[in-house]
Amino acid sequence: MSDSDTIVLAISLQKGGVGKTTTAINLGAALAERGFRTLIIDLDPQGNASSGLGVRPPEDAPTIAEVLRREETLDSIIEPTAEKNLFVAPAPTGQALAEVEAQLVAEMFPQPRLKDAIDACRADWDYVLLDCPPTLGRLTVNAFMAADAVLAPVQCQYFALEGLRDLSEVVKQVRQALNPTLEIAHYLLTMSEGSKKLSSEVEAELRSAYGKKVFRSSIPYNVKLAEAPSMERSVLKHASTSKGALAYRDVAKELSHGRTPKAR
Ligand SMILES: Nc1ncnc2c1ncn2[C@@H]1O[C@H](COP(=O)(O)OP(=O)(O)OP(=O)(O)O)[C@@H](O)[C@H]1O
Ligand SMILES: [Mg+2]
Repeated sequence: MSDSDTIVLAISLQKGGVGKTTTAINLGAALAERGFRTLIIDLDPQGNASSGLGVRPPEDAPTIAEVLRREETLDSIIEPTAEKNLFVAPAPTGQALAEVEAQLVAEMFPQPRLKDAIDACRADWDYVLLDCPPTLGRLTVNAFMAADAVLAPVQCQYFALEGLRDLSEVVKQVRQALNPTLEIAHYLLTMSEGSKKLSSEVEAELRSAYGKKVFRSSIPYNVKLAEAPSMERSVLKHASTSKGALAYRDVAKELSHGRTPKAR
């Protein structure tokens, strides 16, 4: 198996609270459950992907902030989770990641810092999921330079599709200047309330605009998904037969269709 069998996905939308981190954690956990070695890289200064899986680096421990500064290898900061095959590259607590972003803004040309760090250990992973912050700033651009594709979670709400316009524009700019094959390859409907008219309208609109790029399975509004982070585990462990767990398992099945974990 070659390094090209590793898939790096940036989970991104500049709108807050649409389910990016919930998707990183639970899609990651569902891929891991299928036997895929999966790494979640926490690129959000809020650090929710790390804490939601019980990973809290001590204050002086190196994190993704040092990796982006090219002071540490990605390998050296990766933490296991309580779930088999699922690992996290944590964000720092406090302001360190926001400070790194401010430094990145000073670069005349964005450097592929995250890409270089991932390339150095790419073969170790089947999937690398990048949990992006709710902005299209330099941390997200670094994620887009490193990613094979973008996965956009779309909350079943009014104006959901408008949010996709800015994302598409930035993806297009990164494709033209920095990462020629980048595209939004996947759209995932989140917090869907199937019985409500609004949810089905947003769903119909998204499917007619983006066709097969929209996962067939959508993620329902499910309170177990909201509870799981406080239990410091994925919904697959917190409530294994909940609708939320089943939905993320379905998405993992669609995403990994035809692939098998690398032999190790
Ligand atoms: N399908 C769902 N059902 C119920 N609650 C959900 C669902 N998805 C996410 N949530 C809850 O909604 C809130 C926002 O979700 P999440 O943190 O995943 O969004 P985000 O896009 O990562 O937010 P941010 O932009 O702040 O990083 C969280 O409290 C989460 O637990
Ligand atoms: Mg988040």
